Amino acid sequence: HLLSIDSLDDAAIAQLLERGAAFAADPALGAGRLAGCTVFNCFYENSTRTAMSFAQAAARLGAQAITLSVEHSSVKKGETLADTARTLGAMGPDALVLRHRHDGAAAEVASLVDCPVVNAGDGTNEHPTQALLDALTLTQHFGSLDGRRVAIVGDIRHSRVARSNAKLLERLGVEVRLAGPDRLVPPGCMSFDSALDGADAVMMLRVQRERLDEELGDAPGEYLRLHGLTLERLARARPDSVVLHPGPMNRGVEIADEVADLPGRSLILRQVANGVAMRMAVLEHLVGR
Ligand code: CP
Repeated sequence: HLLSIDSLDDAAIAQLLERGAAFAADPALGAGRLAGCTVFNCFYENSTRTAMSFAQAAARLGAQAITLSVEHSSVKKGETLADTARTLGAMGPDALVLRHRHDGAAAEVASLVDCPVVNAGDGTNEHPTQALLDALTLTQHFGSLDGRRVAIVGDIRHSRVARSNAKLLERLGVEVRLAGPDRLVPPGCMSFDSALDGADAVMMLRVQRERLDEELGDAPGEYLRLHGLTLERLARARPDSVVLHPGPMNRGVEIADEVADLPGRSLILRQVANGVAMRMAVLEHLVGR
Protein backbone atom coordinates (compact mmCIF):
# COMPACT_ATOMS: atom_id res chain seq x y z
CA HIS A 1 0.00 0.00 0.00
CA LEU A 2 0.94 3.65 -0.26
CA LEU A 3 -0.98 5.23 2.61
CA SER A 4 1.53 7.73 3.97
CA ILE A 5 5.02 9.00 3.26
CA ASP A 6 5.91 7.05 6.43
CA SER A 7 5.20 3.79 4.59
CA LEU A 8 8.15 4.43 2.24
CA ASP A 9 11.73 3.73 3.26
CA ASP A 10 14.57 5.83 1.85
CA ALA A 11 15.35 3.27 -0.86
CA ALA A 12 11.73 3.23 -2.05
CA ILE A 13 11.63 7.04 -2.18
CA ALA A 14 14.84 7.14 -4.23
CA GLN A 15 13.54 4.43 -6.56
CA LEU A 16 10.19 6.17 -7.08
CA LEU A 17 11.86 9.51 -7.82
CA GLU A 18 14.23 7.86 -10.28
CA ARG A 19 11.47 5.92 -12.01
CA GLY A 20 9.17 8.97 -12.03
CA ALA A 21 11.92 10.99 -13.72
CA ALA A 22 12.38 8.25 -16.31
CA PHE A 23 8.64 8.12 -17.08
CA ALA A 24 8.53 11.93 -17.28
CA ALA A 25 11.33 11.90 -19.83
CA ASP A 26 9.84 9.04 -21.84
CA PRO A 27 6.25 7.96 -21.08
CA ALA A 28 6.59 5.15 -23.64
CA LEU A 29 8.85 3.34 -21.15
CA GLY A 30 5.67 2.26 -19.39
CA ALA A 31 4.12 0.54 -22.40
CA GLY A 32 2.73 -2.87 -21.45
CA ARG A 33 4.26 -2.85 -17.94
CA LEU A 34 0.85 -3.53 -16.35
CA ALA A 35 -0.89 -5.14 -19.31
CA GLY A 36 -4.06 -6.94 -18.26
CA CYS A 37 -4.25 -5.19 -14.88
CA THR A 38 -7.15 -3.14 -13.57
CA VAL A 39 -6.97 -0.11 -11.30
CA PHE A 40 -10.13 0.93 -9.43
CA ASN A 41 -10.36 4.72 -9.05
CA CYS A 42 -12.65 5.59 -6.14
CA PHE A 43 -12.97 9.32 -5.46
CA TYR A 44 -15.43 10.25 -2.72
CA GLU A 45 -14.20 13.86 -2.97
CA ASN A 46 -13.85 15.98 -6.09
CA SER A 47 -10.64 15.77 -8.08
CA THR A 48 -9.34 16.77 -11.48
CA ARG A 49 -5.55 16.29 -11.32
CA THR A 50 -5.29 13.20 -9.14
CA ALA A 51 -8.17 11.25 -10.66
CA MET A 52 -7.27 11.96 -14.27
CA SER A 53 -3.56 11.43 -13.79
CA PHE A 54 -4.10 8.02 -12.18
CA ALA A 55 -6.28 7.10 -15.17
CA GLN A 56 -3.67 8.41 -17.59
CA ALA A 57 -0.89 6.64 -15.68
CA ALA A 58 -2.78 3.35 -15.81
CA ALA A 59 -3.38 3.75 -19.55
CA ARG A 60 0.30 4.47 -20.22
CA LEU A 61 1.23 1.28 -18.33
CA GLY A 62 -1.25 -0.79 -20.34
CA ALA A 63 -3.63 -1.21 -17.39
CA GLN A 64 -7.29 -0.33 -17.42
CA ALA A 65 -8.56 2.30 -14.98
CA ILE A 66 -12.14 1.74 -13.87
CA THR A 67 -13.87 4.63 -12.14
CA LEU A 68 -16.40 4.25 -9.35
CA SER A 69 -18.86 7.06 -9.92
CA VAL A 70 -19.57 7.68 -6.25
CA GLU A 71 -22.50 9.99 -7.00
CA HIS A 72 -24.24 7.21 -8.94
CA SER A 73 -23.13 4.33 -6.73
CA SER A 74 -24.72 2.50 -3.82
CA VAL A 75 -22.81 4.85 -1.52
CA LYS A 76 -25.82 7.10 -2.13
CA LYS A 77 -28.08 4.31 -0.78
CA GLY A 78 -26.14 4.31 2.46
CA GLU A 79 -23.55 1.59 1.85
CA THR A 80 -20.66 2.01 4.27
CA LEU A 81 -17.07 2.55 3.20
CA ALA A 82 -16.18 -0.86 4.68
CA ASP A 83 -18.89 -2.69 2.73
CA THR A 84 -18.03 -0.81 -0.45
CA ALA A 85 -14.37 -1.76 0.04
CA ARG A 86 -15.19 -5.45 0.59
CA THR A 87 -17.49 -5.37 -2.46
CA LEU A 88 -14.89 -3.79 -4.74
CA GLY A 89 -12.17 -6.05 -3.35
CA ALA A 90 -14.23 -9.12 -4.24
CA MET A 91 -14.05 -8.07 -7.91
CA GLY A 92 -10.30 -8.59 -7.91
CA PRO A 93 -8.72 -5.27 -8.91
CA ASP A 94 -4.92 -5.13 -9.06
CA ALA A 95 -4.92 -1.79 -7.22
CA LEU A 96 -7.45 0.53 -5.63
CA VAL A 97 -6.97 4.30 -5.51
CA LEU A 98 -9.04 6.09 -2.86
CA ARG A 99 -9.81 9.70 -2.05
CA HIS A 100 -12.04 10.27 0.95
CA ARG A 101 -12.95 13.07 3.32
CA HIS A 102 -12.08 11.09 6.45
CA ASP A 103 -8.57 10.82 7.87
CA GLY A 104 -7.56 7.17 7.87
CA ALA A 105 -10.08 6.06 5.21
CA ALA A 106 -7.36 4.62 2.95
CA ALA A 107 -5.88 2.65 5.85
CA GLU A 108 -9.32 1.26 6.65
CA VAL A 109 -9.86 0.14 3.06
CA ALA A 110 -6.36 -1.32 2.93
CA SER A 111 -7.22 -3.54 5.88
CA LEU A 112 -10.24 -4.96 4.01
CA VAL A 113 -8.97 -5.74 0.50
CA ASP A 114 -6.27 -8.01 -0.90
CA CYS A 115 -4.83 -5.55 -3.44
CA PRO A 116 -2.53 -2.56 -2.90
CA VAL A 117 -4.34 0.64 -1.91
CA VAL A 118 -3.08 4.11 -2.83
CA ASN A 119 -4.13 7.01 -0.65
CA ALA A 120 -5.13 9.76 -3.09
CA GLY A 121 -5.93 12.11 -0.20
CA ASP A 122 -7.67 11.29 3.10
CA GLY A 123 -9.25 14.23 4.88
CA THR A 124 -6.60 16.50 6.36
CA ASN A 125 -4.17 13.61 6.84
CA GLU A 126 -1.97 12.79 3.83
CA HIS A 127 -1.67 12.96 0.05
CA PRO A 128 1.55 11.01 -0.54
CA THR A 129 1.52 10.90 -4.35
CA GLN A 130 1.20 14.71 -4.42
CA ALA A 131 4.31 15.00 -2.25
CA LEU A 132 6.18 12.56 -4.49
CA LEU A 133 5.32 14.47 -7.66
CA ASP A 134 6.27 17.75 -5.97
CA ALA A 135 9.64 16.28 -4.92
CA LEU A 136 10.15 15.05 -8.48
CA THR A 137 9.38 18.55 -9.81
CA LEU A 138 11.81 20.19 -7.40
CA THR A 139 14.49 17.56 -8.07
CA GLN A 140 14.20 18.07 -11.83
CA HIS A 141 14.72 21.79 -11.28
CA PHE A 142 17.40 21.85 -8.59
CA GLY A 143 19.06 18.44 -8.69
CA SER A 144 19.77 17.54 -5.06
CA LEU A 145 17.33 19.11 -2.60
CA ASP A 146 19.75 18.87 0.34
CA GLY A 147 19.93 22.28 2.06
CA ARG A 148 17.27 23.89 -0.13
CA ARG A 149 14.68 26.12 1.56
CA VAL A 150 11.04 25.52 0.68
CA ALA A 151 8.25 27.71 2.06
CA ILE A 152 4.84 26.01 2.24
CA VAL A 153 2.31 28.77 2.75
CA GLY A 154 -1.43 29.03 3.30
CA ASP A 155 -4.02 26.80 4.92
CA ILE A 156 -1.57 24.44 6.63
CA ARG A 157 -4.11 23.31 9.22
CA HIS A 158 -6.34 21.55 6.69
CA SER A 159 -3.69 20.55 4.18
CA ARG A 160 -2.85 16.90 3.59
CA VAL A 161 -0.52 18.20 0.86
CA ALA A 162 1.47 20.21 3.42
CA ARG A 163 1.65 17.27 5.81
CA SER A 164 2.95 14.80 3.20
CA ASN A 165 5.28 17.38 1.66
CA ALA A 166 6.78 18.39 5.00
CA LYS A 167 7.53 14.75 5.80
CA LEU A 168 9.03 13.94 2.42
CA LEU A 169 10.99 17.14 1.86
CA GLU A 170 12.57 16.90 5.33
CA ARG A 171 13.62 13.33 4.51
CA LEU A 172 15.34 14.76 1.40
CA GLY A 173 17.29 17.34 3.43
CA VAL A 174 15.09 20.37 2.73
CA GLU A 175 14.60 23.17 5.29
CA VAL A 176 10.79 23.27 5.29
CA ARG A 177 9.20 26.54 6.42
CA LEU A 178 5.47 26.57 7.20
CA ALA A 179 3.51 29.81 7.22
CA GLY A 180 0.00 31.12 6.79
CA PRO A 181 -2.80 33.14 8.37
CA ASP A 182 -2.96 32.69 12.16
CA ARG A 183 -6.31 30.91 12.02
CA LEU A 184 -5.07 28.43 9.41
CA VAL A 185 -1.76 27.29 10.87
CA PRO A 186 -0.77 25.25 13.92
CA PRO A 187 1.31 26.94 16.63
CA GLY A 188 5.00 27.40 15.82
CA CYS A 189 4.69 28.42 12.17
CA MET A 190 6.65 31.37 10.76
CA SER A 191 5.41 34.69 9.44
CA PHE A 192 4.85 34.77 5.68
CA ASP A 193 7.68 37.25 5.14
CA SER A 194 10.21 35.26 7.22
CA ALA A 195 9.27 32.05 5.41
CA LEU A 196 9.88 33.73 2.06
CA ASP A 197 13.24 35.31 2.95
CA GLY A 198 15.85 33.60 0.77
CA ALA A 199 13.54 30.70 -0.10
CA ASP A 200 14.42 28.54 -3.12
CA ALA A 201 10.81 27.53 -3.69
CA VAL A 202 7.39 28.70 -2.54
CA MET A 203 4.50 26.27 -2.48
CA MET A 204 1.16 28.07 -2.10
CA LEU A 205 -1.91 26.29 -0.75
CA ARG A 206 -5.60 26.81 -1.37
CA VAL A 207 -7.83 27.91 1.50
CA GLN A 208 -9.99 24.82 2.06
CA ARG A 209 -13.20 26.67 2.84
CA GLU A 210 -15.09 23.37 2.59
CA ARG A 211 -13.27 22.19 5.74
CA LEU A 212 -13.78 25.38 7.74
CA ASP A 213 -16.48 25.37 10.41
CA GLU A 214 -17.07 29.08 9.89
CA GLU A 215 -16.53 31.66 7.19
CA LEU A 216 -13.12 33.37 7.15
CA GLY A 217 -15.00 36.64 6.78
CA ASP A 218 -12.39 38.15 4.46
CA ALA A 219 -13.57 40.89 2.13
CA PRO A 220 -12.89 40.48 -1.64
CA GLY A 221 -9.16 41.03 -2.27
CA GLU A 222 -8.26 40.98 1.42
CA TYR A 223 -6.77 37.47 1.50
CA LEU A 224 -4.48 38.24 -1.44
CA ARG A 225 -3.39 41.51 0.12
CA LEU A 226 -2.66 40.00 3.54
CA HIS A 227 -1.73 36.38 2.83
CA GLY A 228 -1.44 35.86 -0.92
CA LEU A 229 1.63 35.45 -3.11
CA THR A 230 2.02 38.60 -5.17
CA LEU A 231 5.05 39.60 -7.25
CA GLU A 232 6.02 42.08 -4.52
CA ARG A 233 6.05 39.36 -1.86
CA LEU A 234 7.82 36.87 -4.10
CA ALA A 235 10.67 39.39 -4.35
CA ARG A 236 11.65 38.39 -0.77
CA ALA A 237 12.55 34.90 -2.02
CA ARG A 238 15.66 34.20 -4.10
CA PRO A 239 15.53 35.88 -7.53
CA ASP A 240 15.67 32.46 -9.16
CA SER A 241 13.11 30.90 -6.81
CA VAL A 242 10.31 28.80 -8.23
CA VAL A 243 6.58 28.70 -7.47
CA LEU A 244 4.48 25.61 -6.93
CA HIS A 245 0.80 25.03 -6.18
CA PRO A 246 -0.87 21.61 -5.92
CA GLY A 247 -4.07 22.99 -7.47
CA PRO A 248 -6.81 23.77 -7.80
CA MET A 249 -5.78 27.42 -7.53
CA ASN A 250 -7.95 30.23 -6.28
CA ARG A 251 -6.47 32.89 -8.53
CA GLY A 252 -6.58 36.31 -6.97
CA VAL A 253 -6.97 34.77 -3.50
CA GLU A 254 -3.84 32.85 -2.40
CA ILE A 255 -1.92 33.55 -5.61
CA ALA A 256 -1.88 36.44 -8.07
CA ASP A 257 -2.33 35.68 -11.77
CA GLU A 258 1.09 37.07 -12.70
CA VAL A 259 2.78 34.74 -10.16
CA ALA A 260 0.77 31.66 -11.18
CA ASP A 261 1.78 32.23 -14.79
CA LEU A 262 5.30 33.56 -14.20
CA PRO A 263 7.40 32.37 -17.16
CA GLY A 264 10.34 30.16 -16.18
CA ARG A 265 9.51 30.28 -12.47
CA SER A 266 5.99 28.88 -12.15
CA LEU A 267 6.30 25.07 -12.14
CA ILE A 268 2.57 24.51 -11.67
CA LEU A 269 1.90 22.82 -15.01
CA ARG A 270 5.14 20.87 -14.66
CA GLN A 271 3.69 19.51 -11.39
CA VAL A 272 0.59 18.36 -13.28
CA ALA A 273 2.64 16.63 -15.98
CA ASN A 274 4.80 14.98 -13.33
CA GLY A 275 1.64 13.75 -11.61
CA VAL A 276 1.14 11.27 -14.44
CA ALA A 277 4.78 10.14 -14.42
CA MET A 278 4.93 9.74 -10.65
CA ARG A 279 1.66 7.82 -10.53
CA MET A 280 3.01 5.51 -13.23
CA ALA A 281 5.99 4.90 -10.95
CA VAL A 282 3.73 4.28 -7.93
CA LEU A 283 1.43 1.84 -9.77
CA GLU A 284 4.42 -0.01 -11.22
CA HIS A 285 6.03 -0.17 -7.75
CA LEU A 286 2.88 -1.59 -6.12
CA VAL A 287 1.48 -3.78 -8.87
CA GLY A 288 4.39 -4.63 -11.16
CA ARG A 289 5.54 -8.22 -11.16
N1 CP B 1 -3.66 18.42 -6.13
C1 CP B 1 -4.83 17.76 -6.15
O1 CP B 1 -5.04 16.82 -5.38
O2 CP B 1 -5.71 18.21 -7.10
P1 CP B 1 -7.14 17.55 -7.39
O3 CP B 1 -8.00 17.82 -6.18
O4 CP B 1 -7.65 18.21 -8.64
O5 CP B 1 -6.92 16.07 -7.56
